[in-house]
Amino acid sequence: MDKTLAVIGAGTMGSGIAHVSALHGYRVLMIDAQEGAVHRARQAISKRLTREVDKGSMTSLDADAVMERLVEADWPDASQAFMAIEAVLEIVDVKKEVFQRLDSLLPDGAILATNTSSLSITEIATITKRPAYVLGMHFFNPAPVMKLIEIVRGEETGDDAVQQAQAYARSIGKETVVVEKDTPGFVVNRVLMPLFIEAMRIYEEGIASKDDIDKAVKLGLNHPMGPLTLADLTGLDVDLHVMDYMYDEFHDDRFAAPLVLRRLVRAGRLGRKTGKGFYDYD
Ligand SMILES: NC(=O)c1ccc[n+]([C@@H]2O[C@H](COP(=O)([O-])OP(=O)(O)OC[C@H]3O[C@@H](n4cnc5c(N)ncnc54)[C@H](O)[C@@H]3O)[C@@H](O)[C@H]2O)c1
Repeated sequence: MDKTLAVIGAGTMGSGIAHVSALHGYRVLMIDAQEGAVHRARQAISKRLTREVDKGSMTSLDADAVMERLVEADWPDASQAFMAIEAVLEIVDVKKEVFQRLDSLLPDGAILATNTSSLSITEIATITKRPAYVLGMHFFNPAPVMKLIEIVRGEETGDDAVQQAQAYARSIGKETVVVEKDTPGFVVNRVLMPLFIEAMRIYEEGIASKDDIDKAVKLGLNHPMGPLTLADLTGLDVDLHVMDYMYDEFHDDRFAAPLVLRRLVRAGRLGRKTGKGFYDYD
């Protein structure tokens, strides 16, 4: 297999995808629109690798080799890649622009994957001349740690592209599920959002304390983390955005965001990354 991969967007997800891919031997062309973004991402990855070296779980030689495989690149370099994974902003027009550009650069038969959490793969594929080779590859945060990739078929995605995406996922130590129909929330968020919503409503109705709601789900359902803790971790603004999007698409009350969530977001309590969410972290 050709080992050069392009990752577009060097933020939270793009840097995680680049990190885990380089760890497993891929040469990764990192491209970002923002000046300094790739540099910052490489520095953050280097810090994480140094921690692994300090713990003794990696040699400094291996860490150096990983860093060498992470290449700051320009758009034309993407022509060397057998696959591109896009992790830019969750705005369909921005993603379409990126896909149009990638379509003109990558060789025929190269896969164009989007890490979108919610947008339509079919719609993104329409801008390209290769819809059979466009698919969703939904990683979870942090990408180097989380085991799952949801592989999402657009209406015209072909079997060859799905199989190649599965092979890549296996090669970086991930498990996959195939989402056969391009639907909002795919599988994970479709299951997760109603869980979050019900936990938040139970809290809102004063049925149990937040600690007890989390404890009940952890110990009663064997989840590693309670839903309110997980909602804080994923970001309450992100959760609200996903719920509103799914509600708009499905017109179904299962996805109606609880008032308590909207109030927390309006108050700037966006979850763990801001130090405050359902819980205080500082
Ligand atoms: N953060 C998560 O937990 C998570 C999980 C799964 C999927 N996603 C999805 O992954 C994607 C990226 O999310 P993120 O959290 O990494 O975002 P982020 O804001 O951390 O990073 C986005 C990066 O894309 C760059 N960018 C923006 N427009 C660009 C363009 N036109 N060309 C090149 N680079 C561009 C930005 O400069 C930034 O560095 C989104 O679609 C999001 O929905 C996020």
